Amino acid sequence: MFEEELKIIPEPVEVSLNDGIFFLSQKTTIQADLTSTRNGEYLKQVLASQYGLNLAFEESSQNNEGKSSIILKTSNEKELNNSEEYSLLVSKENIIISATTSVGVFYGIQTLLQLIPNKALKGDKISELSIPCVSIEDFPRFKWRGFMLDEARHFFGKEVVKKILDIMALLKLNRLHWHLTDDQGWRVEIKKYPLLTKIGSKREGTIVARKKGVISSQKQNVPIDGIPVSGYYTREALMDIIEYANERYITIIPELDFPGHTMAALAAYPELSCTGGPFEVSTRFGIHRDVFCIGKEEVFEFTKNVLDEVMDIFPSKIIHTGGDEVPRRRWNKCSECQKRIIEEGMKGSENLQVYFTNRIADYLSSKGRQLMGWNEILNDKLSKDAICHYWTNNLKLVLQHAIKGRKVVMSEMSAVYLNYPYNLIPTKKTYLYDPIPEGYDNNYEKHILGIEACLWTEFVDDKDKLEWQTFPRLIAVAETGWTPKNKKKFESFLKRLESFLPLLKAFDVNYPTKEEFLQDQ
Ligand code: ACM
Ligand code: ZN
Repeated sequence: MFEEELKIIPEPVEVSLNDGIFFLSQKTTIQADLTSTRNGEYLKQVLASQYGLNLAFEESSQNNEGKSSIILKTSNEKELNNSEEYSLLVSKENIIISATTSVGVFYGIQTLLQLIPNKALKGDKISELSIPCVSIEDFPRFKWRGFMLDEARHFFGKEVVKKILDIMALLKLNRLHWHLTDDQGWRVEIKKYPLLTKIGSKREGTIVARKKGVISSQKQNVPIDGIPVSGYYTREALMDIIEYANERYITIIPELDFPGHTMAALAAYPELSCTGGPFEVSTRFGIHRDVFCIGKEEVFEFTKNVLDEVMDIFPSKIIHTGGDEVPRRRWNKCSECQKRIIEEGMKGSENLQVYFTNRIADYLSSKGRQLMGWNEILNDKLSKDAICHYWTNNLKLVLQHAIKGRKVVMSEMSAVYLNYPYNLIPTKKTYLYDPIPEGYDNNYEKHILGIEACLWTEFVDDKDKLEWQTFPRLIAVAETGWTPKNKKKFESFLKRLESFLPLLKAFDVNYPTKEEFLQDQ
């Protein structure tokens, strides 16, 4: 009878429904062993804020299994498939969530939250909530289950990001890739280079053509709307958000995009370019011909100094350094770039990009970090430990990278770029995209770390539009990242989505109607 109520997203690996009901009430206690204390406190806080239940919390290694309790255990009893694995057992007497790691316990809690009837979200006083007796064994298909947010084109601020992190946690997503710099804005405070934010975080407006849905314009003379866009994160704000993400077992991967998409940096420090400028923070989109000069040592000094501060703030081992859409036009004409080509014995300016990437990759490695970049960084000479982030073109080359044992993350533009309208990428198309291409040799699957949905914000200028574009397609991506491929069914996903949507509503998320997000597909 409860089949209909087991609507969990992402669909777990193994679920069995048993007879009986557990009654969750004010009398239920939360018991957590020492390693699960933080998870216990998190569960207590979510049950209070979202369901109005104030449960007593006991730290305990001697679980009192006799009374109505939610027991969180981090134990090493079982050989696990995966460090994020958990098991969830609901019986009439108690609920036991166990895992070998605290992240596993956290994911068990997320599944439990989806077993609580949605009516409890509405704030009505409900004295007892029925949870069906079940046993669930669960672990993710991919290690990398990500979402990319572009705050360079538009700046949304801390509260918007924290809400996204809350919802990512519900969906067992574990990587927030944060695109913080681009031609249209520099959004991260760097103490050594104050002009990056003083000048680089502000632009006068945005091309008017965007209102008609034109994606980019290379023309310099298109009118701009005159609505200023500005904003950046201080170190303190960044650390606060990183801590918030960490409490939800989400790693934030900062992206500082070099050597192209750098107009905001060049507006502040034009000496980093081939021509010397002057430049303005861009008010239009697309590819800009002015990029960092690879002939100048100051460019390497600057990039390393910026990354030093970034590494100080962000504990993530992986640092994304962009590398997409870098035109060579300036390099071809620049005497310093040409000098570099001769000195390094390169064939031509097409090799300057890999030269830049490798020097930065080596620098990051020397600090115990690892470079990740968009697929344009691929080159026979690319550093072995650079992670390739696939978005478009050259899928073959990206797969060859993985077959050589190097790592890749998949963000196929035509399926998981959430900035595209629903009529171009309906939710079904996003759901059916698989990061392992058809026919790919499964010996090398482990080198495809996972999937990431991207939200570029050229035309997303407020929180409501951001949420509207993101949900429910990010929910579809979360299921692809977690659920075994053979268990994924779109019809089942849609049914389960019906029960997930009230959770989004509880977070006051602005999402489209079913007609809008399905677009009759
Ligand atoms: C990209 O969409 N330019 C990575
Ligand atoms: Zn140059």
